[in-house]
Amino acid sequence: MSPSEAPALFTAKVEPGDQQFDAWANQPLLLSAEQGGINWPSSCRNGACRTCISQLDQGEVRYQIEWPSLSAEEKAEGYVLPCVAFPCSDLTLRLA
Ligand code: FES
Repeated sequence: MSPSEAPALFTAKVEPGDQQFDAWANQPLLLSAEQGGINWPSSCRNGACRTCISQLDQGEVRYQIEWPSLSAEEKAEGYVLPCVAFPCSDLTLRLA
């Protein structure tokens, strides 16, 4: 694999608690958080139950599924579902 094919790696901070983990662009934030030793609440892991819901204080995410269980208002307010959200930048997540 050439360096240009390597997945991007971002830094994700978690508030409250001032923790951080490596957030790979090619996998959901929840998985990266768990690999980084963060104990994040989760259940369905497919964007349906909202157990993992959190607020994006900084940064951007994208989704591979069309309608994660968030309303347009919640998305506008910065709520994200880390089990199905992929990072597009360094970011800060706040446990909701
Ligand atoms: S774990 Fe169910 S929506 Fe994320």
